[in-house]
Amino acid sequence: MNTEQAAVLECYARHDHNDEYEKNWGYGNPIASAYWSLRDELVFPGLAQRLEGLASSVQILEIGSGHGHELAKLTQLGIPPEQLTGIDLVHERLARARSRYPRINFSQQDATQLAFADHSFDLVCQFTCVMHGPSIESQRRICSEMARVLKPGGVIVWWDMSPTRWRVLLLRRLCALVSRRSSLKRKAELLGTCFAEFLLPARRKVAAQAALPGYIRAVARQDLPELFPGLSVHARSAGLDFAIWESLWPRWPRLAQVLWRAGWLSHHCFAIIEKNR
Ligand SMILES: C[S@@+](CC[C@H](N)C(=O)[O-])C[C@H]1O[C@@H](n2cnc3c(N)ncnc32)[C@H](O)[C@@H]1O
Repeated sequence: MNTEQAAVLECYARHDHNDEYEKNWGYGNPIASAYWSLRDELVFPGLAQRLEGLASSVQILEIGSGHGHELAKLTQLGIPPEQLTGIDLVHERLARARSRYPRINFSQQDATQLAFADHSFDLVCQFTCVMHGPSIESQRRICSEMARVLKPGGVIVWWDMSPTRWRVLLLRRLCALVSRRSSLKRKAELLGTCFAEFLLPARRKVAAQAALPGYIRAVARQDLPELFPGLSVHARSAGLDFAIWESLWPRWPRLAQVLWRAGWLSHHCFAIIEKNR
């Protein structure tokens, strides 16, 4: 096992301990579940249109399929589970996916070196897997594998973290401040500190760089064409920063939904990447 693989295993040993991952981001958590339903609203219509008439033969791959929930959702589009394939590095995550979705094909593989032949899939998806590549070279290897196993005329669906924008950080801090139990005086002091931090561009940059945990290397939307040379990339910022969503949705769900759909305070990129025939 190489150091990149060991880092992913270590990361998910931590996240999956006591089922923390599912508790924080899984469908049993109503806040997370409402967030994912908005993502489905974004991803599914386009997919349904592209897969029209292909359901009986289409072959779909998800890299970094985790517990398999996203892949399994594609059966709602009429795709038989036997035509879905998920790969992941983490054995325990695959075991859970297999027991929950026994008819889907899951295998243990590294996304940087897939064991499939060229042109095997009509659709290749990734939902927050490439962000685990610790360097641009490693992310380039994953993207080039996704493109390699994709059939000509096929599409890649991309949803991943993008670099933190300072306005996202500012709103995150303001939300935390509103929810905080402290005196008005203390809140006013913290508000002052917060604005001081974001007033100077140099400080904003430092704060934005420090905002993501070390195991995430966000991919800028502008970098996608270079990661997928020769393919047509249609990318946009999408969704709402999850920490802001967690603060807003329980109290003001409609506001949270409006902000999600607008994408101004997004921390993610959504892309459809096409391989020409
Ligand atoms: C944030 S989770 C997302 C899981 C799933 N896509 C979802 O949206 O629920 C990222 C997943 O990517 C997997 N992963 C990260 N790097 C990988 C690699 N190089 N090869 C295969 N899987 C990888 C992790 O083990 C983890 O299950």
